[in-house]
Amino acid sequence: MLLSNQPKFYGRRQGRKIRKAKSGLLDRFLPRIAISGTAPVTKNMFGVPVDEIWLEIGFGNGEHLAGQALRHPHIGFIGAEVFKNGVANLLTLLTGIKESGDMPEQITLLPERVDNVRVWNEDVRLLFERIPDGSLSRVFLLFPDPWPKKRHASRRFVNPDNLKEIARILKKGGIFRIATDHKVYKGWALRRMAETPDFRWTAKTGNDWRYPPADWVETKYQRKAVAEGRRPIFLDFERL
Ligand SMILES: C[S@@+](CC[C@H](N)C(=O)[O-])C[C@H]1O[C@@H](n2cnc3c(N)ncnc32)[C@H](O)[C@@H]1O
Repeated sequence: MLLSNQPKFYGRRQGRKIRKAKSGLLDRFLPRIAISGTAPVTKNMFGVPVDEIWLEIGFGNGEHLAGQALRHPHIGFIGAEVFKNGVANLLTLLTGIKESGDMPEQITLLPERVDNVRVWNEDVRLLFERIPDGSLSRVFLLFPDPWPKKRHASRRFVNPDNLKEIARILKKGGIFRIATDHKVYKGWALRRMAETPDFRWTAKTGNDWRYPPADWVETKYQRKAVAEGRRPIFLDFERL
């Protein structure tokens, strides 16, 4: 049910029919790693001890989230994604289960993984109020929906309200990383970020934003953009 004070979400919540293995994962594995209840977000919400918390907003198919979580077993990752099919894909990456024939009685993470991912299968704006001030070290916003038409500009995720929340939840020195391939969004994001006194763009040379950062994991939208001839940019902002 949509309450009147809830922000309106304009994207898709579900796409193609979710195949049996993935819907089995959504039913049986998602509840184990989903963020539920009303408690504040803390380092204790992960199944392993973690040193920091990183948040990925709109993780899509989850490649970047799953890849970063594998590389950084001592970081707790929160992935927020509204799109059910994307969440189901992330669960496949975490468990290795692709076919319903692979579905064991007890579903577990792949042996190389630790229990450091938690999923918010809703609009991230509804999670913000549960994240204490200065509690995150990184926030990723990778290839956000560009909403290129002028009349849809208010739907763009990089906007003053969201930036205020991201500035609040990031600790000083924390990084907010935006990637985009869309020509309208490139200028838009840089202008909105330049307007906020809470962040400093870290780029020193053109190569710092033209090429992915060293710890980058490729995403589906990035591959699509490159295949269609668009050049993504990678913007890191430090919380001051
Ligand atoms: C263009 S896709 C990019 C997906 C992924 N980051 C990638 O690079 O492949 C944008 C994603 O953000 C999600 N999204 C948009 N607004 C959101 C919000 N407020 N909360 C959570 N997810 C959101 C959408 O559902 C969509 O899957």
